[in-house]
Amino acid sequence: MRRKLVVGNWKMHGSLASNGELLAGVRAAEPFVCEAAVCVPFPYLSTCVLVLQGSHIALGAQDCSAHEQGAFTGEVSAAMLADVGCRYVIVGHSERRAYHAESDQLVADKAKLVVGKGLVPIVCVGETLAEREAGQTEAVVKRQLSAVIHTLGHCVPQAVIAYEPVWAIGTGRTATPEQAQEVHAVLRAQLHAATEHAGAMKILYGGSVKADNAATLFAQPDIDGGLIGGASLKAADFVAICRAAL
Ligand code: G3H
Repeated sequence: MRRKLVVGNWKMHGSLASNGELLAGVRAAEPFVCEAAVCVPFPYLSTCVLVLQGSHIALGAQDCSAHEQGAFTGEVSAAMLADVGCRYVIVGHSERRAYHAESDQLVADKAKLVVGKGLVPIVCVGETLAEREAGQTEAVVKRQLSAVIHTLGHCVPQAVIAYEPVWAIGTGRTATPEQAQEVHAVLRAQLHAATEHAGAMKILYGGSVKADNAATLFAQPDIDGGLIGGASLKAADFVAICRAAL
């Protein structure tokens, strides 16, 4: 039995004041049956960790450097994220892959650094609309996951996988529960071929998850929770999604 995980990805939104209000609203609704986390912009990690003291809501970052340390101006290392109290680090979000040309191998290298610091990488995979329409969905997500499997080796069970069809992100057009389950089953089978612990690994769905569609998505056998963008920015919506994760 896998405990569900709901992760808010705030992306580049928020301020000290609005973050405080948002987290206070979510905290007021604890406890949840599921595990919950928020992945916040780098400048707010240190304040959010204080606001979350005594809460079961974990803290995460949205990316990290592919380097351990050194002269990499503007970058943030996995070690720094561990140091400030993160538990999760999103790697390979489609916005990073698209706008920063992150390759499958770079994403896998980041995941390895994250695991090496004792943190949990949330590795995003997903196809574009053109790839889906060309019948390439399975090949694309398998290629993306394959790099992670080969790079993490025996550590792969320490990762969380997030399936996020690019065409469903921020568009209001979610995958149907059946479409999502179909891809999650492909990913689960690929993990089973790589590790005896695949049955315990969490595979999240992301892409226009809202309070009114979360329960049916999360009821699918291989969907273990969600990676939530827009709907994680309002406490009431995020709380409703957490409550739908049973
Ligand atoms: O990381 C979250 C995803 O990109 C989903 O974003 O819920 O706004 O579609 P969304």
